[in-house]
Formats: sequence, structure tokens, C-alpha cells
Amino acid sequence: MKATVKAHTNIALIKYWGKRDEALFLPTNNSLSVTLDKFYTITTVEFLPALQADEFYFNGELAEEKELMKISAFLDRVRANAKKPMFACVKSQNHVPTAAGFASSASGYAALAAASAKAIGLQLTDRELSQLARQGSGSASRSIFGGYVEWEKGSNADGSDCYAQQILKKDAWDLRILSVEVTTKAKKVLSREGMKRTVQTSPFFAGWLEAVEQDLIAIKEAINERDFTKLGQVVEANALKMHATTLGANPPFMYWQSATVEVMQEVQALREKGIEAYFTIDAGPNVKIVCQPEEEQVIHESLETLPVVQQIHHCRIGPGITYL
Ligand code: ADP
Ligand code: DP6
Ligand code: CO
Repeated sequence: MKATVKAHTNIALIKYWGKRDEALFLPTNNSLSVTLDKFYTITTVEFLPALQADEFYFNGELAEEKELMKISAFLDRVRANAKKPMFACVKSQNHVPTAAGFASSASGYAALAAASAKAIGLQLTDRELSQLARQGSGSASRSIFGGYVEWEKGSNADGSDCYAQQILKKDAWDLRILSVEVTTKAKKVLSREGMKRTVQTSPFFAGWLEAVEQDLIAIKEAINERDFTKLGQVVEANALKMHATTLGANPPFMYWQSATVEVMQEVQALREKGIEAYFTIDAGPNVKIVCQPEEEQVIHESLETLPVVQQIHHCRIGPGITYL
């Protein structure tokens, strides 16, 4: 009753931002991502009859009570599904900074979903795993799959039509993502809390929902046509609209730091020189740059001159979950 799974993070090109059901993690809009090869989580789950409670070791240490409670709540769903009331020992290692806007919750819950389902003897399809992972963190629904992935918001109240699926294989279009690290410090407003506050209080949220539909249509056209300029323009504009909603929340908040803006401006300056780089930003201060292979190096060289840049991680489009 033991399984180990590796799952990669993903970066949303069209953002998931807003839930219509908090408990089931049902989103207000479809989102679209690429899975990244560089950042991942490895999680081992072992169900043991002798245990009196769940145990959670995170990055080699016994995790805080708060984190254990989140893991236990997730395992409760798995136990209920398998009808086996057994506790587990969970060990997880993040090869990605945690809670800093690098999508650790995506790789973390994709790995936990697949490892716990396997360990308890549930035979789930990837679609069912996506639905399970979704209930730990929405973005994790997409990390079950590799390549280009769309998460369907669905319309059923029970979430039965709400899952992610691969829309294009990773090798079908070789885009590159430079993950520009300005800080790995944990964010003050976790994604879950930030999203909730935005939905409940931001007058800009309605505008976001209206715009995201158009952005989805445009990005799917760009992907079908392999039109990089069109894709980049949509990606950057979509991220800006998502972040704009946080400024309208009550109390307002923003994920950017001055370093974030410096990187954004450098990307825009590169474009003025004819170099096709476009940025996107998740719930955190770090910036991801989408580009084509032939321009990856020149973009790197220009960004490394900025003193605020700590590291530049070169990512390619990565695979889905693997059982180790
Ligand atoms: P991020 O930008 O890293 O996705 P979030 O605010 O979405 O930040 O989520 C961070 C939370 O995700 C952490 O506080 C933790 O509860 C959870 N998380 C991160 N990594 C793991 C993991 N490997 N296993 C289980 N939960 C994880
Ligand atoms: C800005 O999936 O981390 O990165 O579902 O509450 O766990 P919860 O949030 P999470 O939110 C991700 C938000 C985002 C955009 C995205 O990844 O689509
Ligand atoms: Co997250």
C-alpha cells in the first residue's frame, strides 16, 4: 500500500482566478497551461494499519500542524472513495520553491493525488486523477498531464464535468519558458485566500470574467496556427488583467514587487528591439518569460544584467505524472 509519484509544476498562459465553489474547487473560468520540465514534486504515500493518525514529512522534516491538516483533509476524500479508513505516512519533497508563485501547490497536489490513489488501490483514469488533484489545489488538475493542457470549468454542481485534459503534446510546439526568480520568499496572501477575496470584493472581477472568454478563444487560435506573436500578446495581457483584479479587492493587495516591474519592463524593452519575449506572472512576484528557442539565449543575457534578478531557470514543456 505504498506508491511514489513525480509531478511537474505548470504555468498558466490563461489564468485560473476565481472559484464558484470553494469546497469542490470549481473555477469560474477555463484556464490553459503548459507543464514545466524543470520544477517538480516527488511524493511517497504509504497507508499503514498501525497508524493512529496521518503523518506528513515535508522537505525532510515533520510538517507543521496546519500543513498536516490540509493533507489529512485531502486523504479523507481518498479514503472515502476507496472505503478504507486507514491512515497514511506521506513524504514529499519539492524541487521548486514553496508558496512563492512557482506553482508548488500544482505539482504538490498532483503528486499527492496520484500517489495516494495508487497506494490505497484505487484505479483511476487520468481524468479522475485530475478531478481528485483539483480538490487539493485547482492548478493541480492541470499538472496530471504533460504538454499543453486546458482545465474545463464544467457546469455541473458536483464537479463531474470539471477536469483538465491535454490539448497538444509537448513536442508539437517547442516553446521555452524562462522562470525569472527575484525572490523565493513565501507570499503573504496565498492563492486560495487572494482568489477568494477578489471574487467577493473586487469590482474588477466581472471584467476579468468577460475578458477571459475572448482570451481563451484567441490563444487556442494561436496554438492551432503556431502563431507565437499572437500567443505572446494574449498571454501577457491575460496575466495583467488577472493581477489588475487584486488592486480592486478589499483590502487591496498585489503580488508584484519593484523587481517584478523591472523584469516586466525589460521584457517590453526587448520587444522594442524586435526580440519576441512575453511575460506572465502567477500569484507571486516572480516572472516567467515565454519565448521561442532561437531567442532564449539573447533574452537570458539581457535579463542577467538586472541586479534584481537572482536566478534564471530555463524550462521546456514537460511531461505529466510518472510513477516511480
Ligand atoms: P504556489 O505558488 O507555490 O502554488 P500556493 O499559495 O498556491 O503557492 O500554495 C502553497 C501551498 O501549497 C503551501 O502552503 C502548501 O500548503 C501547499 N503545498 C506546496 N507544496 C506541497 C507539497 N509538496 N505537498 C502538499 N502540499 C503542498
Ligand atoms: C495565479 O491553484 O494555487 O497561479 O486552487 O486555491 O489552491 P488553489 O489555488 P492555485 O491558484 C493558482 C492561481 C494562479 C493561476 C493559475 O495557475 O492558473
Ligand atoms: Co498554487
